[in-house]
Amino acid sequence: MLLTIRSLTKTFPGTRALDSVDFDLRAGEVHALLGENGAGKSTLIKCLTGAYQRDEGELTLDGAPISPQSTLEAQELGIGTVYQEVNLLPNLTVAENLTFGRQPTRFGMVDGRAMRRQAEEMLSGYGVDVDVRRDLGTYSVAIQQIVAIARAVTLSGKVLILDEPTASLDSREVAMLFDVVRSLREQGLGIIFISHFLDQVFEISDRVTVLRNGCRVATDDIAGLERLRLIEHMLGHELEDETREGRHAHVPSDPSERTLHFEGVGRRGLIEPFDLSVGRGEVIGLAGLLGSGRTESAEVLFGIKPTQTGTARDENGEIALRNPREAVAAGFGFAPEDRKTDGIVADLSVRENIALALQARRGWARPISRAEQNRLADHYIDRLDIRTSDAEKAVGDLSGGNQQKVVLARWLAMNPRFFILDEPTRGIDVGAHAEILRLIEEVTADGMSILVISSELDELVAVADRVIVVRDRRHVAQLTGAEVETDTIVRAIAAPDADSDEEAA
Ligand SMILES: Nc1ncnc2c1ncn2[C@@H]1O[C@H](COP(=O)(O)OP(=O)(O)OP(=O)(O)O)[C@@H](O)[C@H]1O
Ligand SMILES: [Mg+2]
Repeated sequence: MLLTIRSLTKTFPGTRALDSVDFDLRAGEVHALLGENGAGKSTLIKCLTGAYQRDEGELTLDGAPISPQSTLEAQELGIGTVYQEVNLLPNLTVAENLTFGRQPTRFGMVDGRAMRRQAEEMLSGYGVDVDVRRDLGTYSVAIQQIVAIARAVTLSGKVLILDEPTASLDSREVAMLFDVVRSLREQGLGIIFISHFLDQVFEISDRVTVLRNGCRVATDDIAGLERLRLIEHMLGHELEDETREGRHAHVPSDPSERTLHFEGVGRRGLIEPFDLSVGRGEVIGLAGLLGSGRTESAEVLFGIKPTQTGTARDENGEIALRNPREAVAAGFGFAPEDRKTDGIVADLSVRENIALALQARRGWARPISRAEQNRLADHYIDRLDIRTSDAEKAVGDLSGGNQQKVVLARWLAMNPRFFILDEPTRGIDVGAHAEILRLIEEVTADGMSILVISSELDELVAVADRVIVVRDRRHVAQLTGAEVETDTIVRAIAAPDADSDEEAA
C-alpha cells in the first residue's frame, strides 16, 4: 500500500470533523473521496498534508510512519496537493511558477535559460502547448491547473491530491485534465480525487471512499457500483425522489404580464445588446458554453458592467442600473459563481453574514435586532441545511460548500424580486442540490423572479420556465414549453447558425 491512514481523528471546537477514519491509497490508482458539504474531505486532506495537526491517528507512506508538520514537509515526503483555486502566482511566468523555490542559478543569479529548459521539461508529457515565458495568468484555469499539477508531481512524485480541481472547468478542459490524470496513474502515482460531480467520479476513479459526518461509511470499487447506492451512502438515507426529475410543465409567463423589461442592454466586447422581459415568479434559464457570454449577461443586468446602450424599466418607470448598488436598490440580487469574490466575510459569524446585506440595504441607522438576526440565521441554516455547529461559528471555518450556502442565504434574506444565480449548485453536494432546486420553486411561488445560469442542463430543465441560449456573446435563441429539454438545448448551443426561434424576446 502506498499510503495508509489509520484512525484519523480531528476535532474543532464544537465539531468532530473526522472520527477515527481509515483510508488507503494504492500506487497507480485514482481514489475518489466523496461526501456531503462538511463531511470532512478537505479536513482529511489537510491533516494528511500537515496543514492541520491531527488529534489522533497514524499515517504511513511506503510502509514508513510519517507525520508532516507542514505542507512543505509533506511535499518533500512525496505528497503534493492541487486545490480548486490555483495557488500559484498569475503574474509570474509559467517557468517561474514551475521552478520557484528551486530556480537554477549561475554565478548567484537566476539562470533564465536553464529555468526555461527545466520548466519545459517539467511540462513535457502533459500534452499542453504552453509558452513557459508567458505569464501564468494569461492561460485558462485548466492550463493553470495542469501547471500546478506538473509542479506538484515534480516536487512530490508519489501522491497527488486534487481537491475539487474541475469545479470551474468546461467539459473540454475536464477531458484535458483527465488525460493528464490517467497518464500519471499509469506512471504509478496514487491520486486522491475530490469532486461533487458524480459523472466525473465514475469516469476517472478506480475506487471511492465516502465520508459522512466525519466518519468513513464505505470504500468500494467503482466497477459495478451503482450510482444510487453511492448517493445513499453520502446522504445516509434513501433518496426521496430522484433529485433532478423534471418538475413542472414549462410555463413561460404571459408576455403581456411581464413586469420587468430590459431593452437593448449590452456592452461592447462583452455581450451584444439583448432584450429580456421577466414575469413575476418566472424562472429563466441561461444556457451556453463557458465564455459564451452567460456571466457577462448577468453582470450587465446587475450593473457590475453597466449597460452602454439599453434601458431597464418596471411598472414604475425607468430603473437606473449604473452599478450593483442601484441594482440592489431596485430589488435585484446576484449570487456570483466564484466563491472567492462573492464577498463572504470569513471572520464574521454565519448569523452576521446572513444579516449583512439586509442590514446594508436598510441602512446602519436602523439595526436589525439580535432576535431578528437569530431568527433569519436559524431559518436559513435549517432551510439550506447549512452544516455548522451553531449560528455563531465564523464562516471561514465552514466547509467550502457550506460557505456557498451562506451566500445564498444572505441574498434570500433580502427577498429580491429579481434574483440572478450564477451556477448556484457548483461545489454543492447532491442533497443540498435538490434542496436548492426545491427552494427556487418555493420562492418563485411567492413571486420572486429568477435568472439561473447553469452548465448542468438537467438542472436548467428541472427549474426553468424558458431557456435563453447564449453563443459567442449573443443571445441566439429562446426555448419554451416542450423545447425546454436537454437535447434541444445542446443543439441550440452547438448550432453554428441559430435556427430555433431567433432572438430572445
Ligand atoms: N478551521 C476550522 N475551524 C473550525 N471548524 C472547521 C475548520 N475547518 C473545517 N471545520 C469543520 O469541519 C467540518 C468538515 O469540513 P470540511 O471542510 O473538511 O468539509 P468538506 O467535506 O471538505 O466539505 P465541502 O464539500 O463543502 O468542501 C465542517 O463541519 C467544518 O465546519
Ligand atoms: Mg472541501
